[in-house]
Amino acid sequence: MSVEQGAGAGPRSPAGWRQDTVYQIYPRSFCDSNGDGIGDLPGILSRLDHLQALGVGVVWLSPVYQSPNDDNGYDISDYRAIHPEFGTLADFDALLAGMHQRGIKLMMDLVVNHTSDEHAWFQQARSARDNPFHDFYIWREPRAGQVGGQPGAEPNNWEAAFNGSVWTWNEATQEYYLHMFSPRQPDLNWENPQVRAEVCALMRFWLDRGVDGFRMDVINVISKPWNADGSLPDAPVVKPGFLQPAFTLATGGPRLTEFLQQMRREALAPYETLTVGEMPCVTPAQAQTYTAADSGALNMVFQFEHMDLDCQPVGGKWALKPLHLPDLKRSMGRWQQALHGRGWNSLYLGNHDQPRPVSRFGDDGLHRVRSAKLLAMYLHGLQGTPYVYQGEELGMTNLPWPSVEACQDLETRNWWRVAVDEQGLDPAVALAAVRAKSRDNARTPMQWSAGPGAGFTTGTPWLPINANADRINADAARADPDSVFHLYRQLIALRRSLTVLVDGHYQPLLEDDTRLAAYLRQTDGESGTRLLVVCNFSGEPLTVRWPDHLDAAGYQTLVSNLPGDVAAAPWASEMTLQPWEARWALRS
Ligand code: GLC
Ligand code: CA
Repeated sequence: MSVEQGAGAGPRSPAGWRQDTVYQIYPRSFCDSNGDGIGDLPGILSRLDHLQALGVGVVWLSPVYQSPNDDNGYDISDYRAIHPEFGTLADFDALLAGMHQRGIKLMMDLVVNHTSDEHAWFQQARSARDNPFHDFYIWREPRAGQVGGQPGAEPNNWEAAFNGSVWTWNEATQEYYLHMFSPRQPDLNWENPQVRAEVCALMRFWLDRGVDGFRMDVINVISKPWNADGSLPDAPVVKPGFLQPAFTLATGGPRLTEFLQQMRREALAPYETLTVGEMPCVTPAQAQTYTAADSGALNMVFQFEHMDLDCQPVGGKWALKPLHLPDLKRSMGRWQQALHGRGWNSLYLGNHDQPRPVSRFGDDGLHRVRSAKLLAMYLHGLQGTPYVYQGEELGMTNLPWPSVEACQDLETRNWWRVAVDEQGLDPAVALAAVRAKSRDNARTPMQWSAGPGAGFTTGTPWLPINANADRINADAARADPDSVFHLYRQLIALRRSLTVLVDGHYQPLLEDDTRLAAYLRQTDGESGTRLLVVCNFSGEPLTVRWPDHLDAAGYQTLVSNLPGDVAAAPWASEMTLQPWEARWALRS
């Protein structure tokens, strides 16, 4: 079936989706129902009341498909089966029904840049050059004059996201296959129309089961920047010993829009759906195209600019650098202005690939509660769809990893092997980087209650539980009206009732200030509602001097991250904010 492209032919989005907040569940770490130490689908079902109390409208579920778990489910060996450690298809249907009963929509994770090496397609593909599935993946000859399988013979010099070359030698066919991530995650060949047809079919399989949409994993890498002769360009050297990261070359390829539009037409179009594309290196101009209200293939994209501000320009995420607050404000502001009226932002500070926001951008010691609330208030005041990653609503923190052996994440472990074991980086420096940046910081089990297993499991958890679970847990948070949880609840509810949050345009204030962040949201017209957000990103009291045109004395506090009566917080052209204090204020 082919449907005309353009306005009218696309999928419809659920009513009011722009007022919803999304909650991300990492199933392995959310709730374990059978004591094997691994979170599962019945575990999630047993905790839906928590999500309902929080008020979220949508859940993004990280992968639950059949997988050998080289990358915790982001390596899928059967797109139509549930991994037995998570449960069964019947458990999945029960979970989906439980969400729908509570008015919560479900976005599945769609990981189709690559499969697992255990997927039947790849098993076939790697067996012989004339196998019908061979062309489902990307194969190339060794570099001219080189012997395949020997160092330096790889078809180009790109480095994989999880270290090493993007090329792995396959004995049976005497060729290399391409993998942007681990060798156990071979990239699919999207140039092959059969691959695209299979992807659309598996999307329809889940849509027919009732899911409400997809979060599309690294979806802007599916179209590779092939040269006319079928080769890929080499990455330039940016500094002796350092190549330009392959992702900066491989994203936003020439056929990406076409491939996305095909999914929209052939998979999404008949359904009411919500989609978000994960897009490393995406630019605001590209995001406008992909998310334009009438013709865009997606509802929104995850951009990464603000995730790259606290590392050095060379050396990747592990080369730590303190965040310079004006960089964050300018980056977020650029995206706010670029997509206003032209596309739609997604808003996030954390997910399963990022450390805990309160440890990264706040103060996870003395001011943990206040700074976790401040980060929420900074983010949730912006235009776009806010994403809350499990445990963020409790102000969960990074774990002080005793050693890299305690981590399981393959990215962390591969990086350590290369940086420390092969290149001689000081292990103390490397451990500090792991504590600050490892993905496992986000993957420690969800803290439901005090006591052994933290309400996550009755068995031995697959990853350590943070020792602070006796204080930081959902039971304690729900019982305390001044908790991070109740502040998130308030912000999520306001997004449904306050139209300026959804529609208002964004105006930056105090842009160069290194410790204060402030902005104005305003709906059109002189009499439009104005929402003013101000955050003290420091552990000291600060005096704010507002520009005259703002007429600050006319504002009234709507939300505060300090305990007590919000109305008592006075507004004036000059005012003092407590350490990590944040306020939302209104004027109409
Ligand atoms: C995405 C996922 C990440 C995964 C990678 C490869 O970035 O969020 O967890 O490792 O893709 O699938
Ligand atoms: Ca389990």
